[in-house]
Amino acid sequence: MGIVAYIGGQFRKPTGLGGRLSAFVMNRMNQKQYRAAEAALGLAGSDTVLDVGFGNGYLLRRLAERYGSRFYGIEISGDMLRAASERNSRAIAGGAMTLTLGDVVRLDFADGFFDKIYTVNTVYFWSDLDAGLAEIYRVLKAGGLFVNAVYTKEFLDGLRYTKRGFAKYSLEEFAAASERNGFSVEVKPITAGKAYCLICRKRDN
Ligand SMILES: C[S@@+](CC[C@H](N)C(=O)[O-])C[C@H]1O[C@@H](n2cnc3c(N)ncnc32)[C@H](O)[C@@H]1O
Repeated sequence: MGIVAYIGGQFRKPTGLGGRLSAFVMNRMNQKQYRAAEAALGLAGSDTVLDVGFGNGYLLRRLAERYGSRFYGIEISGDMLRAASERNSRAIAGGAMTLTLGDVVRLDFADGFFDKIYTVNTVYFWSDLDAGLAEIYRVLKAGGLFVNAVYTKEFLDGLRYTKRGFAKYSLEEFAAASERNGFSVEVKPITAGKAYCLICRKRDN
């Protein structure tokens, strides 16, 4: 495997030492997206919250230090589960956070379990966008919030390592998929031409 494909694979499912390094790079790259997701979530102490694809658990830790919400997270990478569990050991030991292995297309939670769900830069890797959105809809309470922070298709198209293994959607494709899966959608720009948040509210169908 060439170095470019290796880097792309580490963003898709970070593994081993390379995975820890790429997660560290993501933490630096994604600061504006983390801040935008935090602002859009408007967390309260009473919220039950899910992070889909938490990586090394950087944002979970920041949110758990600032808000008294009950946090859950799922990840497909066992190595990221270990890294995030170390980083968040205090919140986990105190019963404020539960991290597990899982895939967004099959969420192991009851219907209507969460007040708020967020994900930062994971949708390009889901095996099925509609199946993931339908699962998020199912486990959200009526009126619940889903915050999806992404890079634009144009920005991703300009990166060498996104040529394979990345499903790159336009804003229109994301908005249409979110709407047909039961959400009303507001788009919040983060950096012009580069990144934005889809703020999705669960409609009562
Ligand atoms: C680019 S990283 C982003 C990590 C973290 N959200 C952040 O911004 O720091 C993408 C993460 O999504 C995870 N992931 C990919 N597909 C997933 C899926 N189907 N369900 C859950 N997590 C997934 C990967 O293992 C990886 O840790």
